Amino acid sequence: MKNIVLIGIMGAGKTTIGKKLSADLNRPFIDMDDYLEKKYNMSIADMFKISEDYFRNHESACCKDMSMQTNTVISTGGGVIKRAENIAYLKKNGIIFYIDRPLELIVDDVDTSSRPLLKNGAQKLYDLDHERRALYMQSCDYHLINDGGLEEICRKIIAVIK
Ligand code: S3P
Repeated sequence: MKNIVLIGIMGAGKTTIGKKLSADLNRPFIDMDDYLEKKYNMSIADMFKISEDYFRNHESACCKDMSMQTNTVISTGGGVIKRAENIAYLKKNGIIFYIDRPLELIVDDVDTSSRPLLKNGAQKLYDLDHERRALYMQSCDYHLINDGGLEEICRKIIAVIK
């Protein structure tokens, strides 16, 4: 079976949704940020301290790894759409869902301390959304609005794959 791949901006709910889908569907789960930190034994924050490119190169290598997976629920980092090669790897065995959460809801509950790109505040989130929305739209197979609860968004995804 194909992977379920979740893309979308930081704080959209990809990891939370991925964990629940994995439990509901009894499929393995990979959070790509965790996978990347374990694979290279280095935190994302430390990679960004070297440079964003350094982080992105490692992220691309992990996308390649994901093309070898099947039947897995995969939550990606918000910037994965910045490189077309990443999306090609993720699409190889996956169906891509754009988890689109209204920014005002994200601002209320996102943890900015663990996200290097948000260290200067929520305005960055609006700027990133502006920069990336078209890329999310063109990268996804399905665009889903996440403005309800966790159950609701998981139901929408399961309805697509069943
Ligand atoms: C990033 C999002 C983060 C993480 C890194 C870069 C981005 O993942 O990959 O900090 O460029 O939007 P989350 O979307 O899981 O926070």
